[in-house]
Formats: sequence, C-alpha cells, structure tokens
Amino acid sequence: MVNTQVTLSGWTLDNPVIPASGTFGFGYEFSEVYDLNLLGSISLKGTTLAPRFGNPTPRIAETPAGLLNSVGLQNPGAEAVANEEMSRLSRVFHKKVILNVSGFSKEDYVGAVQALCRKDMVGLFEINISCPNVHGGGMAFGTDPDSAYEITRAVKAVADKPVYVKLSPNVTDITQIALACEEAGADGLSLINTLMGMRISLKDRKPILKNRTGGLSGPAIFPVALRMVYDVYEKVRIPLIGIGGVSSADDVLEMMLAGATAVQVGSANLVRPDACKAIIEELPHRMEAYHIESLSDIIGGAHHGT
Ligand code: SIN
Repeated sequence: MVNTQVTLSGWTLDNPVIPASGTFGFGYEFSEVYDLNLLGSISLKGTTLAPRFGNPTPRIAETPAGLLNSVGLQNPGAEAVANEEMSRLSRVFHKKVILNVSGFSKEDYVGAVQALCRKDMVGLFEINISCPNVHGGGMAFGTDPDSAYEITRAVKAVADKPVYVKLSPNVTDITQIALACEEAGADGLSLINTLMGMRISLKDRKPILKNRTGGLSGPAIFPVALRMVYDVYEKVRIPLIGIGGVSSADDVLEMMLAGATAVQVGSANLVRPDACKAIIEELPHRMEAYHIESLSDIIGGAHHGT
C-alpha cells in the first residue's frame, strides 16, 4: 500500500493532484463527471475584486500539443465567489480549496483577499501575478522582482491563510522573482503560468486571438515548467506547486522529483474532463512500478547527487 499524501504549509492533502485555476471553473461544474472528493484539492477560477467579462472573442486557439487562451480573467467578482460559488461547491466537495486571486493594483489584490478571508473551506491563497492576458496588472507584477515583493507583502499583511504566489515563465530568470516573493513572506510558490504566444490566420492574415496574444499551455510546455520548478527548488526553501502541461501520473512524479510538493493539472481537463481522476487512479500503480512507497519522500529527489 503506497502513501500518496503530501503536506502544503501544514495542510495535508490525500494526494498531490489539483485541477489548475481556469481549467476547472468553480469545481461544482465537474461534479457530474466524477466524485470531486478524489482530488487533492481544487484551485478555483481566478477571482478579482470586481466582476469581469473577460476579453473579446475569439479567445482560444489550438496549437500542436497545446492551447492558447486569452480569457482575460472572466469571473463574477470576489463577493459572488465568497457567497455563491463556494457555497455551491461545498455541497459536492468536502475538502479545502485554493483561492486564486488576481488584480490590477495592490489595493485590488488586498481587497479581493479580504473579501475571501474567514472561510473554513480555504486551504491557501494563490496570488496570480502572472496572467499574460490583461493590461495594467497581472503579469506586469510577476515580471519585476520589486512589484512581486510589494504585492506579496501587502497580501500577507491581510491574508488569514497561507499565501502562495503564482509565477510567470515570461521572464529572463524566474528564480529572481521567486526569491523576491520568498523574502516578502510568501508561504509557497505555484509555477508556471502560461507562456505568451500567438497564432495567425492564413485566411485573414491577422492574429487568430482578438487580444492578439495569449498564454500557451498543454503538454508542449511541460519540459519548460519542469526546468523552472527544478531551478526554483534550488534557490528557495518554501514549498512549490508544479504546474504546466501535466497530463499523466508519470508527469506528476517528474514534477515532484524536480521539487514540487503538489502538482496542478490544467489543459488536460479540457481534453478529457476526467483527466485528474485518471491520473489519481494511475498514480499508485506508477509508484509501485518505480518502487516509491511514499510520495513525500521523492520531493526534490532529482537534485540529490546531481
Ligand atoms: C486568463 O483568464 O486570461 C487566464 C488566467 C491566467 O493566465 O492567469
């Protein structure tokens, strides 16, 4: 019998598999597909202080082994998430969740987190400073160490749960941003968000996405994400949640060997809605195949002796 439990900042999860924010709605939408309580947790749809309609369409484009999105943080706003979406989810999901929060200013992040505090259902806040699809916020904070430090510090001052910061891969050296967040008091880091990309319609001779650019996700970015988790693990002491193109139990194991304590699954949920269930069911078999008794023993294992 293998042990799939992992612990994030004192919160023990039955397994490390978590649907990534933006690919699983507010969770309850998937409750007819399978019993959500199989999951380690769920990272809810990115939430901002005020409701947002998101970017104009088209905002999705296919790519080989991936997907470009420019959704633009469509969500009903922090009050509605706190009072309506989370209560709907609590009817079908009986574990703690990750609240993913975005903003356009320090005050936005602080206000949204304050609106979402005092909820027993929250395991941790995931502060998204890496959305590539909005102007005047999002990724702008995640590509500059000073801004990343400021947002992290401001959120830490009001949050009543651990604060994890979601990092952008669209930087020269992600470890500099990671170190700034750790220094500002972050309890952990989630990485990576999507890589900025573009597609052009040959028929129209213009970008397919109305916003011109979008964030690339899916299996194509897995090696990039893995490398960044590996690099950041070498520099910081706080736990990491690995994200980026994970679509199998073997990918989960690789991410953990690189240094992730837990792993989020994104685009795979859009390819098959029961992707996380399949990965969770496959995990014990793959652990046995690789003689892994306890998942927490392999975190960062690829660094030993390299
Ligand atoms: C979006 O809503 O544009 C995607 C969220 C993100 O990339 O952080």
